[in-house]
Amino acid sequence: MTQNTEFKKQAAEKAVEEIESGMVIGLGSGSTFYFALQKIGSLIKTGELKDITAIPSSINSEKIARELDIPLITFKEKQEIDITIDGADEVDKYLNLIKGGGAAHLREKVIAQASKKLIIVVDESKLSEKLGTNWAVPVEVLQFAYPLEQKFLESINGKPTLRVYQTGEPVITDEGNFILDTNFGIIQNPFELAEKLENRAGIIEHGLFLRLTSKVIVAGNDGIKILEK
Ligand code: 5RP
Repeated sequence: MTQNTEFKKQAAEKAVEEIESGMVIGLGSGSTFYFALQKIGSLIKTGELKDITAIPSSINSEKIARELDIPLITFKEKQEIDITIDGADEVDKYLNLIKGGGAAHLREKVIAQASKKLIIVVDESKLSEKLGTNWAVPVEVLQFAYPLEQKFLESINGKPTLRVYQTGEPVITDEGNFILDTNFGIIQNPFELAEKLENRAGIIEHGLFLRLTSKVIVAGNDGIKILEK
């Protein structure tokens, strides 16, 4: 199923309805989330949302938020986020996710873990029975360790591919690391896999977001659906 821009917009704008004046919000990353960002910016501009402060998950989100005059803070000012809105690459029936298509999953996970509520916005093409059906797991690795971690990922039956730009140069994340997009096929036990990845010093973070989602807003041919645990 191909991704649908109109459905992305519908899901993103629906999520923004949950934001109230005075809240600290977490800003995700990606094309779906950016529709939410535009909406948040316009509600702040018209005064419908007041006293909002936001913590961005990527340099790109930060840049767009600044252009939209969304007041930004850091974790120095606040260590708890009321609501984070973010996109995802794959969502399973338990609301576990694969994220990191935009290489921002490290900070996105930090923000998700600091959030009272994580709302994921997707078009219906992102739903799968099991993670790994349509998407490889982005694994962020230390540049120094990447050949080593590539070998490790192969040893646990993954097929890692170094993410590169069109020029062939490796993608470098906001934190200065490489990404190994690792195809594990259909993932039967994402918790077991996450544990293996988390045991490696050279692996900085992976794109499995497990038990973090509060709600998924999905837009598709049959309208908007809310999936909750
Ligand atoms: C970035 C992400 C994105 O949220 C994810 O890749 C979805 O992107 P899009 O909304 O453009 O399909 O995890 O790291």
